[in-house]
Amino acid sequence: MRIALLTGGGDCPGLNAVIYAAVKKGINAYGDEFIGFLNGWRGVLDNNWIPLTLESTDGIQLRGGTILHSSRTNVKKVPGGLEKVLDVLKANKIEALIALGGDDTQSVTQYLVENGVKGVGVPKTIDNDLSGTDQTFGFDTAVMIATEAIDRIHTTADSHNRVIVVEVMGRDAGWIAMASGIAGGAHVILVPEKEIDIDHVCALLKYNYDHGKHYGVVVVAEGCHLPETGQVTGSKEVDAFGHARLSGIGEALAGLIEKKAGFETRSVNLGHTQRGGVPTAFDRLLGQRYGLHAIEMVHEQKWGRIAVLRGTDITDIPIKESISTNRRLDQRFFDLISSLEAKV
Ligand code: F6P
Repeated sequence: MRIALLTGGGDCPGLNAVIYAAVKKGINAYGDEFIGFLNGWRGVLDNNWIPLTLESTDGIQLRGGTILHSSRTNVKKVPGGLEKVLDVLKANKIEALIALGGDDTQSVTQYLVENGVKGVGVPKTIDNDLSGTDQTFGFDTAVMIATEAIDRIHTTADSHNRVIVVEVMGRDAGWIAMASGIAGGAHVILVPEKEIDIDHVCALLKYNYDHGKHYGVVVVAEGCHLPETGQVTGSKEVDAFGHARLSGIGEALAGLIEKKAGFETRSVNLGHTQRGGVPTAFDRLLGQRYGLHAIEMVHEQKWGRIAVLRGTDITDIPIKESISTNRRLDQRFFDLISSLEAKV
């Protein structure tokens, strides 16, 4: 078959691992031919692609980012977008499309499938918020990067007897904050699923100072809501899918803590560092397993389905189901966080 791959939305470590495995299995097991559209859906609209061969993908599973580049392009909002995509796929004799992306990218895959395109999805996002899958690749790497940063924050915060607020990504879900906060031994972990209670935050920090520890580490997810003012955005702009650019809650929260509790407070926003660099071993493996499964889905003509991890098995579900809601933290994780907090 002649198969096209693309990577859409925010990049994440492990995308190249998916591409590597899909191309390898497709060529070796089925004699498939591959092209990769560049810059996500933008590349399909622009008919901009490169051939993908065993040689051109050799060793890429070790690398971060995406050799196909990415963009946040919403085909549904581009005038004549659907017709253009159908024309380009036809002109390039594409018999199947594999889209690697999160909920936004997959909403386009679903739209195209409903309009006759033979497409399947692979779930990608450091946010880990795609429904129906226990884990997306990229999440483990982002958590590892954030945890390492939090480890480093402990020593400098301790030396200066300060509170340091670490802002992590995750959009409206607290998976990265919860996992890196616990792994990194943060004293306060704040997630978007629960509104911030400043008095409780200050009480937790005060506990440290009252018990011989003269510093505190707070991990806050970028999507958290401050009392009264709500989410903090870095700019007024929204992306092609209508998402606000969340950024800055760490700094705002540091100001509130300093004012309310009187501790000298600093903040650091880990930002895109969390998406950079090489994938962890876990994400390289998970990405390659997803890639292999995607090729099977194509040859079994499972159009409109997305590969998912269930427990330790890779299987697939309808894309529609995976984008119906975002997977967010629930009571089990709130209990996990509060059980590890100081008793105040
Ligand atoms: O969805 C992944 C993510 O990294 C979010 O955690 C973050 O809010 C957003 O992308 C940032 O997007 P951009 O790279 O467009 O600034």
